[in-house]
Amino acid sequence: MKTNNALFHRDLNKKYSVMVRGEGIYLFDEDGKRYIDGCAGAGNVTLGHGRQRIAEVMKDQAETMAFCFSTNFTNNLALELSSRIADLAPGDLNHVYFVSGGSEGNESAFKICRQYHLQRGNSQKQLIISRWKAYHGATLGAMAASGMPLLKNQFTPWFPNFPKISPCYPYRCKFAGCEGNCNLSCARQLEQAIIQAGPENVAAFIAEPVNSAGIAVGIPGDNYLNEIREICDKYDVLFIADEVITGFGRTGKYFAVEHWNVVPDIIVFGKGASSGYSPLGGVLMRDKIYDSFRESCEIFAHVFTYVDNPVAMRIGLEVLAIIEEEKILDEVSNKETYFLEKTESLKKYSIVGDIRAKGMLWGIELVKNYKTKEPFPAELKVGQQIADYAFKNGLSITAGQGSLDWVDGDDIRLSPPLTTTYKQIDEIIAIIDKGIMKVQL
Ligand SMILES: Cc1ncc(COP(=O)(O)O)c(C=O)c1O
Repeated sequence: MKTNNALFHRDLNKKYSVMVRGEGIYLFDEDGKRYIDGCAGAGNVTLGHGRQRIAEVMKDQAETMAFCFSTNFTNNLALELSSRIADLAPGDLNHVYFVSGGSEGNESAFKICRQYHLQRGNSQKQLIISRWKAYHGATLGAMAASGMPLLKNQFTPWFPNFPKISPCYPYRCKFAGCEGNCNLSCARQLEQAIIQAGPENVAAFIAEPVNSAGIAVGIPGDNYLNEIREICDKYDVLFIADEVITGFGRTGKYFAVEHWNVVPDIIVFGKGASSGYSPLGGVLMRDKIYDSFRESCEIFAHVFTYVDNPVAMRIGLEVLAIIEEEKILDEVSNKETYFLEKTESLKKYSIVGDIRAKGMLWGIELVKNYKTKEPFPAELKVGQQIADYAFKNGLSITAGQGSLDWVDGDDIRLSPPLTTTYKQIDEIIAIIDKGIMKVQL
């Protein structure tokens, strides 16, 4: 062997545990230690690990036809999966462009929006407005739309300058008259941003219906998304809902926008579409967008090798079959309620500032002073201390930092498999309880 460090890890100073097996909500390391996968991988392993029937269809599809290139051919699995997803999607979101993940989905969505406007003679429309604290992916366009400076600062010379507005973040809202009860000032900022940029220049607005990267579960105010929808319509701006993490059941509905009865022009999905069994994502678009391509006879000037990949398509179909047969979504909102009820007891700790949940996206914001919401100094890494304690005790969760001002503001996040039982939720909360107690002391 030439070297024993050939693998380039993201953090070269971290010692990574070597995981060898997954079963249900658990992962096992090479020493046999069991961990609850409290974030379901990256929020994607919605159905849990080690699903035999998914493994079987993967094998079968690999033997039957692992690949056919979408530029030259199509395949029945892609035709079927796109129809199934269109049937589940709200309104006339009837057409799907498949890709390999969330970043590719958002990149593709931006190009689809740009071509849509070009095909309708609006050649100036090119800006994508987005929100601070948003995460839309790691590729250049997706990063440009993301609002997390610490993840993108090194690369800003390469980005288009996309305008940003405030997210909907009731716990730390700074708009006058809001005080935790959204009065939609944040949504109306979109109108100001469009007017400032010139409506003739704005192609689209992108937002996650529920933030889960920059904010530990940023749940929008009641009419927030409806207001956004109206503003976009007024200025012929396409509304892209980034449902990469919220889609395919994470919040209890196939798509989170359904909670607010809003039909965006595009939904980008990923993660849960394959429950982590293969790379898979996609762009769901409304009839008017699809029609603009058909009527203009323009090809979509874009392609990835793995578009409509047969193995990924077969997995996507199996995932939907399991969600339906096991009635996976039926319990998700009950588990949200259960999590919120059970974590009430954590409020005995003064460092617990706020606890939020939408379906099985859960976040606990940690503060130095819960009355003033003053954060801990970032260098204390309070969230990370709790995550480290949890990891030692067999629970893998994510710590977030910077929710206040990119530097300060700690939290912990969880997004376990949707199959997590009530007893397992108790087990998760018990570990977090002890972790918070230890850190607070
Ligand atoms: C909301 C959102 N959009 C986009 C992405 C990027 O997806 P991927 O990592 O599959 O490229 C993520 C990933 O965490 C996400 O949460």
